[in-house]
Amino acid sequence: MVDKQSSVIGKPIDRVEGRLKVTGKAKYAAEIATENVAVGVVIQSTIALGHIEKIDRRAAEGSAGVLAVFTHENRPMTLTETKEGKNLFLLQDDQIRYDGQIIGLVVAESFEQAEHAASLLEISYKPEHANTDVEKCANEKQKNLIEVKDSHYKRGDFASGKAAAVALIEETYRTPTETHNPMEPFSTIASWEGDSLTLHDSTQAVFSVRQNVATILGLAADKVRVVSSYTGGGFGCKLSVWAPLVVAAMAARKLDRPVKVVLSRHQMFGPVGFRPATIQAITLGAKGDGTLTAMGHHAVQETSSFADFMEEVTICTKSTYACANVDTQHHLAHLDIGKPTWMRAPGHATGSFAIESAMDELAYKLKMDPIELRIKNYADKDPDSGLPWSSNSLRECYKQGAQRFAWEKRNPQPCSMRDGNQLIGMGVATALHSYWRNPASASVQLLADGTAIVQSGSQDIGTGTYTIMTQIAADKLSLPVEKVSFRLGDSNMPKAPMSGGSTTAVSVGPAVAQASMDAITKLKQLAVGDKKSVFFNADASKIEAKDGMLFLSSQPSKTESYASIVSRTRSKSLKVEANTDVGENEKNYSINTFGAQFAEVRVDADLGIIAVARFVGAYDAGRILNAKTARSQMLGGITFGIGMALTEHTIIDHNFGRIINSDFAEYHIPVHADIGAIDPFFLDTKDEQANILGAKGVGELGITGVAAAIANAIYHATGKRIRDLPITIDKLL
Ligand code: MOS
Repeated sequence: MVDKQSSVIGKPIDRVEGRLKVTGKAKYAAEIATENVAVGVVIQSTIALGHIEKIDRRAAEGSAGVLAVFTHENRPMTLTETKEGKNLFLLQDDQIRYDGQIIGLVVAESFEQAEHAASLLEISYKPEHANTDVEKCANEKQKNLIEVKDSHYKRGDFASGKAAAVALIEETYRTPTETHNPMEPFSTIASWEGDSLTLHDSTQAVFSVRQNVATILGLAADKVRVVSSYTGGGFGCKLSVWAPLVVAAMAARKLDRPVKVVLSRHQMFGPVGFRPATIQAITLGAKGDGTLTAMGHHAVQETSSFADFMEEVTICTKSTYACANVDTQHHLAHLDIGKPTWMRAPGHATGSFAIESAMDELAYKLKMDPIELRIKNYADKDPDSGLPWSSNSLRECYKQGAQRFAWEKRNPQPCSMRDGNQLIGMGVATALHSYWRNPASASVQLLADGTAIVQSGSQDIGTGTYTIMTQIAADKLSLPVEKVSFRLGDSNMPKAPMSGGSTTAVSVGPAVAQASMDAITKLKQLAVGDKKSVFFNADASKIEAKDGMLFLSSQPSKTESYASIVSRTRSKSLKVEANTDVGENEKNYSINTFGAQFAEVRVDADLGIIAVARFVGAYDAGRILNAKTARSQMLGGITFGIGMALTEHTIIDHNFGRIINSDFAEYHIPVHADIGAIDPFFLDTKDEQANILGAKGVGELGITGVAAAIANAIYHATGKRIRDLPITIDKLL
């Protein structure tokens, strides 16, 4: 279906919920007014391995306003162990597996009372030496370094490809542990009514939270309702259920009162996921003309002692370039750390740092322009699956991005560009991100006042879901956006997938489009069967819809409003629900998003202070559904990438296995002063194969390749190749 030129889809309209957010009227989970709510503060372990010897609760229990102090000794519920609950440590025993593990909950009338009481707990441990060092584990090939089953991927003949190379790069790149720091920390209000549980939660996934909490607590899924109207960022950590939520639900049950738990910034480090550190050994071999003859990518990644979590860091290596001989492999280092989880573009962000840095090194070795080297190895179909691309404008991204960035001004010689005391460097990297689509449903209700309510149990994690879904529905319903109210974030709504992997637009969008089109079809059928309608007995296929009116194609003056037709129904409304599955074309095409990332850095020649002065990103993400919110996604992604390149690092003191920088004073994320001119743009190439909307997903493409572009620019500026993120001053001097 081709959309009309005048379509509201794509327009840079403001966020429909923007006014609510800036006026404080948008209520986030912790702000939901709840009668008689008690406040819980979580207690975390201060050792990384061992067990709790004793917790003296008496002083805390006797403190003003305290309702209960729950630990493993008086756990509020005894749970049957489930797969979903196993790694959460829900106060069921005295074992400590990582620093910051949740070991208790103090519940009081107020937050201040709970926090004060928490400070009165006397806890003694029997610590053991924790193994938290991925580097040591990999170097010593410790027995907890385990090859991931079926992870050894081979394409062609890597050894011959390597032997045939005239230029060879064999280097190891490292990315650190990073902690998600959404503006809104984890927050939950758990309330029971009989054996039914309602959770107001800050989440990226209302339906999977519902399912997993139900399983852990031994309830039927329909006994749990999860509501999340607004989520203040997630970046992957809020895709999962973590201990604070379940412990809040258990305490609420025991106390027969609603319980609210909000994590502090400090408490976000450890028990609710993080990006795992990686060590990535890369091999690149090429002929003199730049043609890649071999690509190797062997990764070691940290995970916890009790759970396998893997970021597929080799994912870009398999598909970005046309290389016949590829060999990739994953090992996991099982350490005494919390469970890692997905963080913004897992695999793509970390893997692209290694492979795109190595491509830059290869370009220097070959004395080739790094863009030319990439274009030389452009893959005209997906070299991994062998499938044709659904669309791929990567070459156009390099071209338009280079123009916009003024790449031609770059002197390829390192240390050759200078502005006073500042060394100037320019770097480039490719971005590739996967397309994932999941089944989704949506409902549309046309009302007698001419408005529509559209619902899907999806989430808006700050990405613009409310807005783009309103636009899609308005377009397909032929209504102005003001007449459409889109609602999300409730497990009582039609089922939608989690908002992760840049999937929401392309999963929920088609469901909203389908439900909207079905609503119009049903409206026409109603009209032709209604004696009071001007369309009575007309041919429904000859009726068209525009601006809230139906009209006959042959006789455009013959009209009737949706409102008028709907007002004659018994329920005074018309409701339809649509379920959409993944697309057929996912079997026939390789669907990916692409980009070219360009960084200009300025490095102080004496002090080594690095600033990203300019950043240009050129993207092929299919059709853009809202030019403003999509651009904001990329601004955020690039900012995230600047943090990854220069500052973000969760540091563990391996003597004690403890995180030592669990606050914003010591864990540095970029602030306004760190951000120069960021200029992302989209080619706005509609993908006819991907789905009914022609969109391919936006969010995570933004960070992919950014760290490499910056590292490459730093090399160009200084002649120093830093292969170990973040690139801090000490590594440069
Ligand atoms: Mo993301 S890591 O898919 O929220």
